[in-house]
Amino acid sequence: MALAYNHEEIAARALEPSLLELDGISRETIEAHYRLYQGYVAKRNEILDKLASVDLGGANQAYSELRSLKVDLSFAIGGIKNHELYFEHLGGSGGDPKGAFGDLVARDFGSVAAWKADLKATGLAGRGWAWTAYDWDERRLFNYIGDAQNSYPVWNATPLVALDVYEHAYFIDFGTDRAAYIEAFFHNLDYGVVNGLVEAYGIRA
Ligand SMILES: [Fe+2]
Repeated sequence: MALAYNHEEIAARALEPSLLELDGISRETIEAHYRLYQGYVAKRNEILDKLASVDLGGANQAYSELRSLKVDLSFAIGGIKNHELYFEHLGGSGGDPKGAFGDLVARDFGSVAAWKADLKATGLAGRGWAWTAYDWDERRLFNYIGDAQNSYPVWNATPLVALDVYEHAYFIDFGTDRAAYIEAFFHNLDYGVVNGLVEAYGIRA
């Protein structure tokens, strides 16, 4: 029995030239993210091709192959989504969030300083990602931790800020000083983009 996995190939989004001129985060670092992102896109396409030809004709080995492909698919798709958000909301001038996202932060964290402190601590504690996401069931923001591209997303929550804390995100520019990188991340955030996401998703403070 062959499984049917009809799919369209997807292509990597173009890298905005403004991302190569961030303040404190180098062109080399952004290019490192982008190469990985391109790899995740290629991997996603490749895995969906392979899934289409897995033959489950009674062989137990096919299930371990299926498991491996599906786990790898979640990693590749996570790597795509995480980086697309990361690229989308960098290139701004930081400061304090105003507007809709600022209102959500004030309501759910008490202050901008408390939100930043918690996201920074989450980024220092995690191995790959920290996200500020809106949870549609609890109707509030949380800062979630991610150890990898595919851990630990929470169902029915929408990421609005994606902080990459994999080593490639900071080592070229800051050595082992991940905290300094996280400060630079905040400094380059475009809250206009984040507010645009809040509006596009219809999130209400
Ligand atoms: Fe990255």
